[in-house]
Amino acid sequence: MANEKGKSPKESAVETRYLLMPSQANPQGTAFGGAIVAWIDMVAAMVAQRHCGKEVVTAGIDSLVFMEPVRIGDHVVLKASINYVGQSSMEVGVQVSREDPYGGNRVIATTAHLTFVALDENKKPTVVPPILPETEQEKKRYENARLRVKARKELLKKIS
Ligand SMILES: CC(C)(COP(=O)(O)OP(=O)(O)OC[C@H]1O[C@@H](n2cnc3c(N)ncnc32)[C@H](O)[C@@H]1OP(=O)(O)O)[C@@H](O)C(=O)NCCC(=O)NCCS
Repeated sequence: MANEKGKSPKESAVETRYLLMPSQANPQGTAFGGAIVAWIDMVAAMVAQRHCGKEVVTAGIDSLVFMEPVRIGDHVVLKASINYVGQSSMEVGVQVSREDPYGGNRVIATTAHLTFVALDENKKPTVVPPILPETEQEKKRYENARLRVKARKELLKKIS
């Protein structure tokens, strides 16, 4: 149940699926990476919106890895949930699997972490509710995301 103290990742999680059509494929008959990224960005944005109840923008996409090709006709299953929040930013993790439309066999194809920032009515970053990780997996994802955010900020300091 959402409350002032925060929300669990389950409350904002999104799972959906698409059928990979020829218009979303490259000349090899496998998914065009940009089509997959557009779906990732969309489902992750919905998670961020559901978590904070505000307008959000994508600030960055990190650790996007294409591990397995997705072929025309495959079902593309996207699972997204919030990992971590800062003041106004939220990290959302997305796992994309290709699923055999007939046998149901599922293989993880792509993973990514995205950062969204919540905006107020003046389009300025605004505070988001905390998250309440409950399961061991949610707690691990929270801690891993915290380390990624810390590492990104330290790197920015070093190279700027
Ligand atoms: C994202 C955006 C709102 C950040 O604005 P800003 O004035 O730099 O805001 P701040 O420096 O106050 O940072 C706000 C938060 O964003 C985070 N942030 C900013 N740039 C980031 C980046 N590249 N990656 C991850 N997080 C980022 C900050 O760490 C901060 O997090 P916190 O509040 O949890 O500590 C602004 O850069 C923007 O509007 N970008 C364009 C967004 C867009 O058009 N997206 C669609 C792209 S196709």
